[in-house]
Amino acid sequence: MHTCISHRAAAVVTYDYDDVVPAGQLDLRGDNSPPLATAVPMLAQPGLSADELSSYGGVAGDPELRAILGALIGVAGDQVLVTTGGSEALFLALTCVADPGDTVLLPRPAFPGFEQLARLVGLRVVHYDVPGVPPRRRAGEPVVVCTPHNPTGIITTPGISVRDDGWTVWDISHMSLAGRRIADLTAELAAHDILVFSLSKLLRLPGARVGCLVATDPAMLAAATRVKTHLSMSSSRPGQHLAKRILSNPATQDELDTRIARFDDLRGELLDAVAASRGLIAVAAADGTYVFVRTRDGSDAWQRLADAGVVGMPGVVFNSAPDTVRLCIAQSDQIVREAARRVKSL
Ligand SMILES: Cc1ncc(COP(=O)(O)O)c(C=O)c1O
Repeated sequence: MHTCISHRAAAVVTYDYDDVVPAGQLDLRGDNSPPLATAVPMLAQPGLSADELSSYGGVAGDPELRAILGALIGVAGDQVLVTTGGSEALFLALTCVADPGDTVLLPRPAFPGFEQLARLVGLRVVHYDVPGVPPRRRAGEPVVVCTPHNPTGIITTPGISVRDDGWTVWDISHMSLAGRRIADLTAELAAHDILVFSLSKLLRLPGARVGCLVATDPAMLAAATRVKTHLSMSSSRPGQHLAKRILSNPATQDELDTRIARFDDLRGELLDAVAASRGLIAVAAADGTYVFVRTRDGSDAWQRLADAGVVGMPGVVFNSAPDTVRLCIAQSDQIVREAARRVKSL
């Protein structure tokens, strides 16, 4: 047979959540919050010129956007490569840290893209558990750390056991960039650290497809930039334009601070509700918008919650067991409060 799909492509698994959640059920699968109020007027008027759209723009991204992202993250603008979402940054990082057949250490449970992309680029995957002891690697093995972790909300601080002797890809796509957390990470950023970031979560703008890869090692940054040339060439110029305008508006930071404080409250309410329930336990989420729940008796967690009218993302999506489910708190206060009330009764 000469027309087989490659084994690697045939093995790719995808999940979407386009199905409609029935009336009366609460949809806590993903972020359903409205766009940032600061962004709304700019979404209607992208302010693009024909010049911008009739050329690719630099492979590394708009220099002003690189500088803005660098300042937010705490690195120099020329250490930032603008990417087509966090997904492309992840693909570039995995491509540049190892060769086909090499091992990469990935968290489990985890954002499914880690495993799918690692296998697509030919890497051998070894898992480490989250929560659990920090990953121990053999010399030279790259490790991916997701902090705040999707789907558990756990924070990993830069510990020596993670950082030693090999590349560490820090996926900080769910980091709020407010407070000390990002500063603590970048203050210790070493040449073998790579950051993957996305504006999809921070600015509630997954459709803009803007993310970035940060590396302090010039050889890594140059390699990722070369690979990107043949992948997407440049990231969407309307997306970059929009990101630049939203991030340089002083009102944005205030709105983000309010949003983060609200998420802290809602996360606390949902965690308290799980703790008050008889049949459920949750991982102690510290940041991000997710709460990862497990049934005490090992029964199907997604089904148990769906029966109570709370629809989450099944744990199997994240390579976890059916007794787990992820709930997203990026919803209206009413939805999360009602979900907490239902969860408490389980
Ligand atoms: C941990 C993590 N990394 C990367 C991505 C991909 O981000 P993007 O939507 O910007 O491609 C996601 C998306 O959900 C994610 O959760």
